[in-house]
Amino acid sequence: MTITAKATGPARIKLLVWPTAHPASITETAWKNTNASQAATFKLNAVGTAGHGWSWRAVIQDQAAVGAATQDAVRTVPWRPKKGVNANFRFVVSSCMVLGLPAPALRVAVSANPVFFGMIGDMGYVDTKKRAAQDYRLYSNQFRDFLNHADSRPLLAKTALVGMQDDHDYGQDECDRTSWKPYAAQAFADLIPGAVATGISYRKWSVGAADFFLLDNRRFQDPKEGPFENGQYHSVLGNRQRTWLTNNLAASTARVKFVLAPMTFTWYWSDGEKKALVNFIERNVSGKVIFCTGDKHAAALVRPSTKTYQMLGGPINIDVKSPTHYRPNVLWTENGTGTPYSNVIGLVHVATTSNRVLLRLMREDGVELARVAVPI
Ligand SMILES: [Fe+2]
Repeated sequence: MTITAKATGPARIKLLVWPTAHPASITETAWKNTNASQAATFKLNAVGTAGHGWSWRAVIQDQAAVGAATQDAVRTVPWRPKKGVNANFRFVVSSCMVLGLPAPALRVAVSANPVFFGMIGDMGYVDTKKRAAQDYRLYSNQFRDFLNHADSRPLLAKTALVGMQDDHDYGQDECDRTSWKPYAAQAFADLIPGAVATGISYRKWSVGAADFFLLDNRRFQDPKEGPFENGQYHSVLGNRQRTWLTNNLAASTARVKFVLAPMTFTWYWSDGEKKALVNFIERNVSGKVIFCTGDKHAAALVRPSTKTYQMLGGPINIDVKSPTHYRPNVLWTENGTGTPYSNVIGLVHVATTSNRVLLRLMREDGVELARVAVPI
């Protein structure tokens, strides 16, 4: 498990971590000085493992170790099944949050008791503040504001955060591999566990009998006007990430595989890349592949092919919504091909014991707008 703990100023931090059921079995880390975002990240192999719920708290002291150390609140990570074990669990995926407004959709997420919260992009929109200096500090403050938001805190205190950047977190609307901002990536990596400032940002993990793939749709994306790295079509993945994804999907024996992708698969990926990926999955991948996506300010359920589904579960709290223009194989949108009305999160029930996955679009007041059951 990777834990990022933050202080309110420069400090040194250590962690106390224990299985929730065994409060006396405490693992204590070494002290670590905070980074430029007043946070410290700990990569811990022996704790946070599947099969137990985990608790942890940060101990914070001045870097000279002169003053008294203070203990921060206890936070928890829920029990999750070990890799390959059939069991029921839930997770939440969404995107697009305005930090100055309440986010009641996240209260719906809390009440679902998810094993993790996938925040797949747009933790704010400071790139649109034209008069603010675009620099590390601006993005560090944005990501801290997300973590400190009154509706983020209760969720992050009781479940794991899976975070990936979309364009606004990378420093520029519609950015691609030629235009994302390294200072924004550095701020994200300093505050969000699992993120990296440079190099390979996409990754995979398993929960029970489900495999998960988290994509990065900006860092390796072709520019809109080209050149296209693959010589054929515009790619949001780039050759290396697409090969990583297809190889790992083909190698996976899990009956259901979730691909968490910041950019809306059905509406925003190029037809060439969608076709290449869907055709590959139909020919070479076992089980079902479910794309959980964000970016577009709308909610939708789509079935691109026999083996693939897409859940678009957002935005968290943005007034300006995006129309869901006609696309083939759409199962549900809130307002046909028009502009939707609601703030939404995507809630997924994985029940490999009863051979199904339930994709649910939950409105911010807790009402279910739509669902689809996926046999697995
Ligand atoms: Fe957005």
